[in-house]
Amino acid sequence: MKLERLDRIRSSLQPSNHPYLNGAWTPQHEEVNATDLRVIEGAIPAEISGVYLRNTENQVHQPLGRFHPFDGDGMIHQIAFENGKANYRNRFVRTRGFAAEQEANASLWGGLADPPALAKRPGWGAHGSLKDASSTDIVVHAGKALSTFYQCGEGYRLDPLTLEDLGLESWTPIDGISAHPKLDEATGELMFFNYSKHPPYMHYGVVDKHNKLKTYIPVPLPGPRLPHDMAFSENYSILNDLPVFWDQELLKRDIHAVRLHDGLPARFAIVPRHGRTEDIRWFEAAPTYVLHWLNAYEDGEAIVLDGYFQENPTPRPSKKAPAGFEHMMAYLDEHSFRPKLHRWRFDLKSGATTETRLDERIMEFGTINPRVAGRKHRYIYSTTAKPGWFLFTGFVKNDLDTGQSWVFELPEGQYASEAPFIPRPGATAEDDGYLVSFITDENTGNSECVLLDAKRIQDGPICRIALPHKICSGTHACWADREQLSPA
Ligand SMILES: [Fe+2]
Repeated sequence: MKLERLDRIRSSLQPSNHPYLNGAWTPQHEEVNATDLRVIEGAIPAEISGVYLRNTENQVHQPLGRFHPFDGDGMIHQIAFENGKANYRNRFVRTRGFAAEQEANASLWGGLADPPALAKRPGWGAHGSLKDASSTDIVVHAGKALSTFYQCGEGYRLDPLTLEDLGLESWTPIDGISAHPKLDEATGELMFFNYSKHPPYMHYGVVDKHNKLKTYIPVPLPGPRLPHDMAFSENYSILNDLPVFWDQELLKRDIHAVRLHDGLPARFAIVPRHGRTEDIRWFEAAPTYVLHWLNAYEDGEAIVLDGYFQENPTPRPSKKAPAGFEHMMAYLDEHSFRPKLHRWRFDLKSGATTETRLDERIMEFGTINPRVAGRKHRYIYSTTAKPGWFLFTGFVKNDLDTGQSWVFELPEGQYASEAPFIPRPGATAEDDGYLVSFITDENTGNSECVLLDAKRIQDGPICRIALPHKICSGTHACWADREQLSPA
């Protein structure tokens, strides 16, 4: 392995005992290029050609208030595979907030757990007082990577191979784009939404494969909401208005407190992909919050939507958390809010919704073969989490046709990142491919990349590749085949 270290960024962060600034959540500030990575075990399949991109949250400066792990600056970690070899590089997303704080060598914005008045400058997105850290998700669309921020940020483009900063995405609307734009590989279109504190509170849009904004329409809601994710089928996009959102009275005093609003149903907007506001049809379902959807597809006169139904979306403070962190840690703990694999079926003829639980185990952050996105899927690959923590400890594969499932749990002290599916070139079976993930090993202080055979995840990694430094935990990741890395 050859390693090149870039000039270090400025940091004012002091050591602390914050549970999400230590261990697997220790921020990484080093930016490197590493070529010809060392394979620890197995061999890199020569047929894999493309990049795995992972966004992580890395706090750079001493927090102004109460740090929350989603406050950290976005850093993209990339492993690139070609001809049985792998290279690695990582870069901070050069957001406007990152640049301003580099110049000040200090935090200029508070975080998710802080009062807005702490911000020294106007912020971004739906919240309005946060830094757009572009730290939540990353997707490759129209040959370029696009990093996003969950509270509706501006959208930053990077070269997916070099990670060169390409600046702000020009079509981003004034209300920004939320964390999870969705790519339809079949058409090259990117579907997105945003939300805000002012009417109509939500918009939906479609960008074509040439990166031109083709559709942008209001999706009027009764008030400010906090939708996190969306789904699409071949002809429709599915947006949501769920009954977990900021307390309306407290919001008038600029207090952003999330509540479950008893008596309100979950509502789903079915929007024709390039439809108008008046074409939207709304469906109701049992109240819940859903962080992530897996996929949707059309089945005759119905639309099927799979996602993770939270049984307890507003958990009580955690009794096991260190003093002062009880509330934050409960909201970062899947075992507190209990997300479960769930299916909604919207009957376009009758207007009725039917719901089915697909698995009673706690899981989230799932993926499918991207070739079937928007089409009927058979297999789902989810992650499992460490009780009490926002840390992924393994993977579950569900076969929805047979009801079978398989599990791979990492050894104690090892934590995974979201594991996208890499389709095997020429594959015909939906599960013919690999899962790719970065592992941080708290026993050794190292990180590595692993590949799992998606047909047999229970066997564990078929290949382990050493990374040059330890990666901070984060939220989302993506895979892009090499042919997706240049503009259409
Ligand atoms: Fe997310």
